[in-house]
Amino acid sequence: MGSNSIGKEFVVTCFGESHGRCVGAVIDGCPAGLPLTEEDIQKDLDKRLPPNREIVSARREKDIVEILSGTYEGFTTGAPICALVWNKQVISGDYDSIRDKPRPGHADYPARIKYMGFNDYRGGGRFSGRITVAFVIAGAVAKKLLDVFGVEVLAYTTEIGNVKLQATLSLEDIRENTYANSVRCPDPDVAEAMEETILSAKKEGDSVGGIVECVAFNLPVGVGEPIFDSLDADIAKMLFDIPAVKGVEFGVGFEAAKMRGSENNDPYVMSDDETELLNNNAGGVLGGLSSGVPLVVRVAVKPTPSISKEQKTVDLSTMQETTISVKGRHDPCVVPKAVPVVEASVAAVLVDQLIRGGFIPKVLGVEAIGEYYDIKEED
Ligand SMILES: Cc1cc2nc3c(=O)[nH]c(=O)nc-3n(C[C@H](O)[C@H](O)[C@H](O)COP(=O)(O)O)c2cc1C
Repeated sequence: MGSNSIGKEFVVTCFGESHGRCVGAVIDGCPAGLPLTEEDIQKDLDKRLPPNREIVSARREKDIVEILSGTYEGFTTGAPICALVWNKQVISGDYDSIRDKPRPGHADYPARIKYMGFNDYRGGGRFSGRITVAFVIAGAVAKKLLDVFGVEVLAYTTEIGNVKLQATLSLEDIRENTYANSVRCPDPDVAEAMEETILSAKKEGDSVGGIVECVAFNLPVGVGEPIFDSLDADIAKMLFDIPAVKGVEFGVGFEAAKMRGSENNDPYVMSDDETELLNNNAGGVLGGLSSGVPLVVRVAVKPTPSISKEQKTVDLSTMQETTISVKGRHDPCVVPKAVPVVEASVAAVLVDQLIRGGFIPKVLGVEAIGEYYDIKEED
């Protein structure tokens, strides 16, 4: 598995397997001088555990982060930051019966062929959703940096199965309500209907998917490195690296294909001596550069592949057709757990791009940090 790092200046390397000793991240290129503690990362890791035990996997370990390097006396030093969590609730016996029977919808079959059976298949190994702990660690550090520069990234659930969030919600609603329910939807009534949808799929031994939206506020104009590291291309790449993500769209996305140019274009007007965009159909990116309005990206998450409903597979030891009912501890819907992962991924790419574009310096002067804390205290 030869590609475990992403980013050019804020480089995130992800390591670990589902049933190995640990999962974690090495972050190389985080500017020196950023206040950073384990609590900063822990609060984002805790968001991966929705309170309703019925809608997430019974593997409910509380992931406790340890920072092994890269900070001193509460500040980043500029050296690589290594942070990890130890895997605790590993029950590998759950997977013995499926060693030779690839689970439909999982990477079991292509991974077995590519790595000639040497890959750790337990719990999906390197292909497990568990590796996204690394994404969340990197995102927590990135969000801390973005906060200093006034950029806010928020993700939330907009669809689960056939239940959709229709209303446009305020920033306050999103900030306050997203993590107040287990499905991570900022509208409490819609959240309830979403929970019911998940529970009814679970009752039938099945699963559902959904959509996560992520918005980034206060990005400066011109963030992005066209042609091949365009802002939207870089974000899409990291989002597609999240297991179970099957689609990424910015702004109106695929709907743009049905619109006329006159409908789809976002016109410019003047407001207080500054240019302003009237709409945001483009999702805040034009030509691979941020355009000065909020960045809006949506991610389609497929239904959890591990289901107890019986499905066809082949026993690779005998090459006979057989059936499989996936046992073990699985989320009937991975969307709630994917929300903080999507937020983290967008934040990590934004920091990489902001450093590359010279918007974030490689060392944070005491002045920048001091000013930031003065403003926070005034708040
Ligand atoms: C946070 C998170 C948790 C996941 N948990 C599970 C799970 O409990 N059971 C499962 O079958 N798939 C789970 N997945 C999805 C699978 O890992 C993924 O579908 C599988 O590895 C195949 O990869 P692909 O869907 O990207 O092709 C999870 C994904 C994420 C992002």
